[in-house]
Amino acid sequence: MKTDNLESVARKLVAPGKGILAADESSGTIEKRLKSINVPSNEENRRMYREILFTTKDAGEFISGVILFDETIRQKTRDGRSFVEVLEQQGIVPGIKVDKGATAMANFRGEKITEGLDGLRERLTEYRKLGARFAKWRAVITIGDGIPTRTCIDSNAEALARYAALCQEGDLVPIVEPEVLMDGTHTIERHFEVTEQTLRSVFDSLAEHRVVLEGILLKPNMVLSGKENPKQASVQEAAEATVRCLKRVVPAAVPGIVFLSGGQTDQQATEHLNAMNRIGDLPWQLSFSYGRALQAPVLKAWKRQSITVRGATAKRGLANTPKRWKPRKPHNVWRGNRAPMFVRHASLGDAQGRRNNGRRR
Ligand code: 13P
Repeated sequence: MKTDNLESVARKLVAPGKGILAADESSGTIEKRLKSINVPSNEENRRMYREILFTTKDAGEFISGVILFDETIRQKTRDGRSFVEVLEQQGIVPGIKVDKGATAMANFRGEKITEGLDGLRERLTEYRKLGARFAKWRAVITIGDGIPTRTCIDSNAEALARYAALCQEGDLVPIVEPEVLMDGTHTIERHFEVTEQTLRSVFDSLAEHRVVLEGILLKPNMVLSGKENPKQASVQEAAEATVRCLKRVVPAAVPGIVFLSGGQTDQQATEHLNAMNRIGDLPWQLSFSYGRALQAPVLKAWKRQSITVRGATAKRGLANTPKRWKPRKPHNVWRGNRAPMFVRHASLGDAQGRRNNGRRR
């Protein structure tokens, strides 16, 4: 195993001021996202949407890596370049989601287990040939009445460790993602407790499976009050709880922690990350690997443009012809919304980030 290589890719992914864009929504999830802006989810629209993201001018200044989905890693831009090539030209490392999704766990009502280990070695070999340098596997832990159970936590941790070992064997950096959901009425203290238990189990399993910690990235949830709990912790409380929890469990050998946004707004996710980086004195780089929190402004912008463009095409009697529908200035969509700019500053925890925190310039 070439661990030097894995370590350098992992470090590149958490280079100061940069983070990861999770654009690996499965077909079902991207359908929901596109539906929210009244865009039909066909292959061409999915391809076009991802092209907008990946060809954003200078995206490589603040995005270190992009997680792709199986369909996406095989797609090309309109001018015929593969998405992998386009990302590399921007200095961005291509990655790939390799789990097959979380499904109901037999005998454990309300809990989930992530599938996808069968045939994984062969799939990893193919993805590596297609140009992926890192991978992602997401486990889902739900807080509720009497859950999570130890069995659910340990089974998911075991699967994450088996996946991580296979990735390192196949020369891909595994992003290890145990997500304790923020959905529910639980307190921040309960979220802390379950996150700590989950991370302990994950790091025990990683050690059992001889995974090299210098060649992984951890993608955890932040420690937050349940979304439906009327008493919400402040930004500072959540940041302190998250850092305290991670310090207890995550070994310093791990080069970086890249948070998921998990249903927070782009502003909340940015403020929390910024506050954590301001705490400072951390053994790992802290950054983002957001899906929704990075893409929400893009979707909003696309919706605005689609209304304009659809209006124009309707006048020409071409409404409902998705193939003809295209955004007018694809390259300006993201920059126009500035989201990555304040995310970039947040990941540095710098003075600029404090000035811009939560404000769109
Ligand atoms: P969110 O940031 O939308 O939670 O997505 C991150 C991700 O990759 C989930 O697996």
